[in-house]
Amino acid sequence: MADTKKIAILPGDGIGPEVIAEAVKVLKKTEELFGYKFETESNLFGGIAIDEKGTPLPQETLEMCKRADAVLLGAVGGPKWDNNPKELRPETGLLGIRKALGLFSNIRPAVIFDCLKEASTLKPEVLEGTDLIVVRELTGGIYFGEKFRRDTDNGQEAVDTCVYNVKEVERIVHQAFQIARTRRKKLCSVDKANVLETSRLWRETVNRIAPEYPDVELEHVLVDNCAMQLLRRPSSFDVIVTENMFGDILSDEAAMLTGSIGMLSSASLGEGSFGLYEPVHGSAPDIAGQGIANPIATILSVALMFKLSFNYQEAGDVIENAVKNVLDAGHRTGDIAVDKSKAIGTTAMGDLIVAAM
Ligand code: NAI
Ligand code: MG
Repeated sequence: MADTKKIAILPGDGIGPEVIAEAVKVLKKTEELFGYKFETESNLFGGIAIDEKGTPLPQETLEMCKRADAVLLGAVGGPKWDNNPKELRPETGLLGIRKALGLFSNIRPAVIFDCLKEASTLKPEVLEGTDLIVVRELTGGIYFGEKFRRDTDNGQEAVDTCVYNVKEVERIVHQAFQIARTRRKKLCSVDKANVLETSRLWRETVNRIAPEYPDVELEHVLVDNCAMQLLRRPSSFDVIVTENMFGDILSDEAAMLTGSIGMLSSASLGEGSFGLYEPVHGSAPDIAGQGIANPIATILSVALMFKLSFNYQEAGDVIENAVKNVLDAGHRTGDIAVDKSKAIGTTAMGDLIVAAM
């Protein structure tokens, strides 16, 4: 029925290949249930690519990603490559692939699974109903502005500059409004417009675009206030859009509402429907090779891919509900288990989710 979707798979290092294997089972099950067709291709990326090809992002890996409709990434990195020069470090591959694929926004959902509320440090009644998405600008702002040191009479001085142009703000704000439209239709734009010029441009731009989305309710919140409100009333947020550094901090804060890094999915999007999907966590060298990693973050990244890149809303819902049902039935990997002696492994968790679909 549906056309074939090409998915480029980059398992990477550490627990990356272990969690990717479970996500691939979920793809297969979706084909069976919905009649969709996925063509998957896998290639070297990160530390393993450094070992075998001498670079974290080999040309053929990049070409494979460019041919695809979406990319599914495990995780990269590990102590083995920590002391390498910059061009031979796995993270250089991550920055490189985002840039080469034109990915300018990072999307991170923070959803509370009722049965895991005990895993969070916040009170269950505060978390009740929390289901939000942080949309973070990824290619501009102070992380990419000119930076340098100079000597002054007071000793050395360091300078970082924060730069945004209207185009960069417009494209991410449109994307955030569009995502809000598919959800509860609330957008919160976060800035520091009381002191930063880049934030004043940001806010003006949001206000100019807003009339194109009359169905979406818009609020502006200053970043320091947003940091507080995320802890005080997380369930009142739907979509949060913000610049690079604020988004880096707020998305980590929002992530911790949910309790475990093993549960968090993410997407990096560019123009159009193309996207790169990956768990928020890293390669977890401390547990790699033991078959105990939680595959849920990667499996939920597949659900996000279905919703944001392929418009397979129903298939995405089926995966999310399967995860919820398996958790409700009491199954836990070690990272989310209260009683660690009852924890199940990576493949057992993957199999249960596939069966629940
Ligand atoms: P990490 O996310 O790999 O691990 C942090 C802690 O959480 C560890 O104790 C780990 O065992 C646990 N953990 C993470 N994912 C888990 C899962 N799915 N199931 C159960 N437990 C899980 O972060 P860390 O330790 O700071 O970094 C390890 C390596 O990963 C480094 O080389 C780092 O550069 C890299 N990294 C890569 C990322 C990526 O590929 N996007 C993102 C973050 C880190
Ligand atoms: Mg961060």
